[in-house]
Parts: sequence; structure tokens; C-alpha cells
Amino acid sequence: MAPNSFSPIDDIPEAQRDTELQGKQSVRFRGLFRWTIWFLVGLLSAVAGLIFSWWTYQGAESPAPIALQPLVNPSSATVSQASDVSANEPSPARSILGHRAYEEAPESELVALSYDASVKLRAAAAERFESMMTDANSQGIYLTPLSGFRSLEDQNYLFFQVKEDRVQETATRAEVSAPPGYSEHHTGYAIDIGDANFPDTNLQISFEQTPAFQWLEQNAARYSFELSFPEGNDQNIQYEPWHWRFVGDSDSLETFYQNR
Ligand code: DAL
Ligand code: ZN
Repeated sequence: MAPNSFSPIDDIPEAQRDTELQGKQSVRFRGLFRWTIWFLVGLLSAVAGLIFSWWTYQGAESPAPIALQPLVNPSSATVSQASDVSANEPSPARSILGHRAYEEAPESELVALSYDASVKLRAAAAERFESMMTDANSQGIYLTPLSGFRSLEDQNYLFFQVKEDRVQETATRAEVSAPPGYSEHHTGYAIDIGDANFPDTNLQISFEQTPAFQWLEQNAARYSFELSFPEGNDQNIQYEPWHWRFVGDSDSLETFYQNR
């Protein structure tokens, strides 16, 4: 063979040439095959990465729904009825046997009445009650504060212990007394009022016959006090002519009227 037609294959004995060629082709083929596999693996990884990013982004845009919780402030607390309550509708107030739930007023917000230091109200209510008492007094009407703020412990005794002592059914007791956690007296805005000249009518329906009650009916609103449980009230609590509540600032208004 002429030198100019020399080819490396010429170094290979003819008998081995096919095998050697096949070997070289096989090596090339394996290289190409490996490259293709790596390319496909890379491509699949990139696609998987894109899908994962898209999925994560979708998750961030649509956070898992948060279950509705009862409100912390029980005065406006809700029964957790997520399926019934739309975000724009007020939640129903939490209640037991007609009595609505209320938080205990913080001790720091209570002041003792100057007439009787054992009776405490929130500062704004105390100030207006004392003005009312003074003005009534100047007209010959003698209002007596009987019971203001009551703790959960006080109400626990009044509801459960008195119920046992009187051998009362729960529903019967609840007609005249709130279970602990459900008394307006916890708020520091409610007060039971008597007529100093007619102590026998204290906490009795007959209080409505006294000059004190009749004066309150005409004048209590001037001091932002209102009767909590008038006759035929929608909570089905017994008529309590002695039990008045202060609604003369935003906090007291929210306490008694939010979501109602
Ligand atoms: N007597 C009223 C309902 C109370 O216990 O709060
Ligand atoms: Zn009361």
C-alpha cells in the first residue's frame, strides 16, 4: 500500500481489523449513550425543579384556611361554628341559659365607691354612679349601692352553692343568677341598687315600687345607666328592677352590645 494511503488501520492485522473497529464504534456508542442519559437526567431534574417551584408558589398564594376560634373577649365571644359563620357576619354571642359570657374586669381598673368601699366599679362607671347618687340625694332619693364588681369566685358561690343550699334546678337558679363567667357583674359596669329607706325591697321585684326605682326610671339614662333585665327581656332572665349597667363609654358599649 502506498505511504500516502497509509492509515492507522494498516497497523492492525486484517484478522483483527473488524473486531478493533467494532470495539472503537462500541466505545463511541457507549460515550454517546452515556452523554444522552446524563442529558436526559439533567433535563428531567430541571423540569422537576420547575414543577416544584411552581407548586411551592401556588401554596404560598393559598395558605391553608385557619379555623375560627372563639373570641378571647367573651363579651363578644363566638361559638366556634366556622361552617355557619361568614367572615362578614357578626358571630353569635356565647351564652349559657340566656346569660352572656363576660370577662372579669382587671383589678387595676376598679375603684371603690366612696359611699361603700366594699362595692367596686370601673372608674368611669363609679364616677357617673356617684354623681347620680349625689343628684338623687339632693332630690330626697336615697340610692344604695348593693353589689358592683363580682369575681368568678364570688359568682361561683352565688350560683352553685346557693343552688345547692336552696335545692334548686340549674335552670331555675339561672333565672335569677348567672353562672360564673356569665354575669354582667364581672365587667365592673353593673350595679345592684337599693332604696336606703326600703331595705326590705333589696334585690326584690318589690323594689320597683320604691321612690328610688321610679327616680332611676326617669333619670338613670342621664348618667348612662340602663336596666339590664327589664320585664320580658330577650334573654329570658327574670325581671330585675335593681340591676343596672353603665353604657357610657366605648368599652362598656362594646362589652354589652358588640355583635348584637
Ligand atoms: N342576677 C344577675 C343575672 C347576675 O347574676 O349577674
Ligand atoms: Zn345584679
